[in-house]
Amino acid sequence: MKKLVEHYCEMPPPIRPILWRLWHHILNRLDADYSNIFLNYGYASPNGEFKDLVLAPHDEPNRYGIQLYHHATRGASLQNKSVLEVGCGRGGGASFLARYHQPKEYIAMDISERLMAYCTQFHQAPGLSFICGSAMHLPFNADRFDAVVNIESARCYPDTGAFFQEVYRVLKPGGHFFFTDMIQNKDVESVHAMLQKPGFSILQQKDIRENVVRALQLDTEARRRVIKERAPTWLQQSLYEFAGVEGSNRFNVFSSNEMQYRSYILQKPNKLP
Ligand SMILES: C[S@@+](CC[C@H](N)C(=O)[O-])C[C@H]1O[C@@H](n2cnc3c(N)ncnc32)[C@H](O)[C@@H]1O
Repeated sequence: MKKLVEHYCEMPPPIRPILWRLWHHILNRLDADYSNIFLNYGYASPNGEFKDLVLAPHDEPNRYGIQLYHHATRGASLQNKSVLEVGCGRGGGASFLARYHQPKEYIAMDISERLMAYCTQFHQAPGLSFICGSAMHLPFNADRFDAVVNIESARCYPDTGAFFQEVYRVLKPGGHFFFTDMIQNKDVESVHAMLQKPGFSILQQKDIRENVVRALQLDTEARRRVIKERAPTWLQQSLYEFAGVEGSNRFNVFSSNEMQYRSYILQKPNKLP
């Protein structure tokens, strides 16, 4: 089981959605009251970046997951914009951006019907809504959104290139694509080629491994505690792996040169007059 969790994204594309559903079925059973509203590794900075991000007390326990969203969407305001998020998971990031960054509308999408039913009930904010759908077939007209957000999700899609083409299609000219994910070193060039194929310009890109590792270090104790409280012993090692706690292979791989964690700000060019 632990090996499956570790190498899930290297499985053949048609198998990934099946494994993903099975894994999330297990997670949903263990966390039936949805106490975790983020499914990412988080972001923290040793030099105090985001010290000025003042959170409401009930958001503080999710600070590192929130900071990843705050970092990912830096550089272009979402205020009064139409925003789509793809792969929103349990909706914690969607709720944060809708409440703190004040877009006109924020449509958050995920392939899991069950998660979207939960999110609709649990997260309320002006302009925020949730729908079920696939990243490779975005159910929207062309030129619909000012921004698309995608956090720690795309690497497991059966066809990431098709997803990038879809994002390009639904963005307005001049619109931004905020894309953040783990990428194996050997795949960085091919990901860039897939991003450039539809025509995206890369405005900013950064390897944020150090920040992700720092967040995992700071959050390891809390992650371990939740897993110990909720999971049967036979499943705990797999969950430590999934959660990337200090000492797990997932955690260690970030300190090797095998894996990067990259955040991109991309733009669909403005049409020529
Ligand atoms: C690691 S979670 C990240 C969730 C969220 N972005 C966060 O940071 O908390 C990845 C999410 O991508 C979703 N996902 C996987 N394949 C998808 C697809 N083909 N289309 C849309 N969402 C997908 C999963 O259901 C899962 O909720």
